[in-house]
Amino acid sequence: MNIGFSKLTKQEKIDVILAELNCSEKVGLVDTEYKEEALQKRFENFSENTIANFHLPYGVAPNFLIDKKEYILPMVTEESSVVAAAAKAAKFWSQHGGFQTKIESMIKIGHIYCTFDLDKKILFKIFENSKEILLNKTIEITKRMDERGGGIESLQLKTLPGLKNTYKIILKVKTCDAMGANFINSTLENIAENFNEIMCDQYFENHFEIIFSILSNYTPECVVSSKVSLKMDDFQIDGMNSVDFFKKFKKAIDIAKFDTDRAVTHNKGIMNGIDSLVLATGNDFRAIEACAHAYAARSGRYTSLTNAEIENDIFSFSIELPISIGTIGGLTKLHPLATLSLDLLDNPSARVLMGIIASLGLAQNFSAVRSLITTGIQKGHMRMHLLNILGQFDASEEQVKVAKDFFSDKVVSYSSVRSFLIEHSQSI
Ligand code: MEV
Repeated sequence: MNIGFSKLTKQEKIDVILAELNCSEKVGLVDTEYKEEALQKRFENFSENTIANFHLPYGVAPNFLIDKKEYILPMVTEESSVVAAAAKAAKFWSQHGGFQTKIESMIKIGHIYCTFDLDKKILFKIFENSKEILLNKTIEITKRMDERGGGIESLQLKTLPGLKNTYKIILKVKTCDAMGANFINSTLENIAENFNEIMCDQYFENHFEIIFSILSNYTPECVVSSKVSLKMDDFQIDGMNSVDFFKKFKKAIDIAKFDTDRAVTHNKGIMNGIDSLVLATGNDFRAIEACAHAYAARSGRYTSLTNAEIENDIFSFSIELPISIGTIGGLTKLHPLATLSLDLLDNPSARVLMGIIASLGLAQNFSAVRSLITTGIQKGHMRMHLLNILGQFDASEEQVKVAKDFFSDKVVSYSSVRSFLIEHSQSI
């Protein structure tokens, strides 16, 4: 590989890759580009060494009733059945009052990690005496956020148990409708620099060191919940009596609460929905994932993010998790499909979007567990899987039609579909 690859033009980079692949042309490189040059350039600038656009399906799940408002949710996912499952749960719950959401808190956090090898009382005293100065010195950075109703909530120094002479300064902020990563990191670096100066002015430069400053993606004070409930009247659901269905459903949720092996898969299913919407709105799904799983383990044992209760014939099903997202800044205005997603959601505030995302996670979990305790997960999956396999064989429309019928009561696998196509190649 060339030294200084990043300095090559895009075409030169593509040529290097093609040479590496031993070919002169490859579908998936240049033919994935936007026609509009400026838009393509914008995409390329999101990252580095960009040589193509990587497409994922952008689907929509209608019929979501969240806090009495109807939504069509945009979902970006490559996994078949995810959108269909979300839409199915949305329709079911829209007939039972829909989702009710609640923001528990909206605080985000950042840390400055530092070391001090003298008596900790000295450090705490200097920090407390400097706090006001440190906060005043952030004013240039925080002014606009303050005007929007956000800004710094608190600044605290704590020891880091288990690590000798190590401390963290905890910054808590509100970032309104922004995800706030740049705001938090800039504020932290400003405080760190000024605190370091104060320590040097007091001749502690050989005893004090700033290690680093960074926001925390763990935001247990930026939490949202969503809930659905219904009276378990005598109705049928997937061929089962509703009371039996919801008792079995609750048992499945309880299994995920007690068994970590199950909880991971259970929560993965929740994140199928959450990530798809986070991605569709141009937010950082890695941050949401990391935080959700840490939150699921906050008791010291990894457990389910959802909870089911049955009390006096009322079945209720809920989710609670931290979701730190933004509806302004970041990719929201840069990525045309992120902008479209926010338009589709009626340009929600961050608070409202948090509720929508949590509701989708709950819906996704409802559908997955519903399938698991009734038909099994493969039935729905395989229908979509069949279409994907047929697509890989470039099956004609007619072949797809006949194959769907043929496989309606058979096991779908790559080889069974191939055999089917070979056998039926003449007759279709
Ligand atoms: C598959 O992506 C997700 C599920 O495994 C989730 C679950 O088991 O609850 C179906």
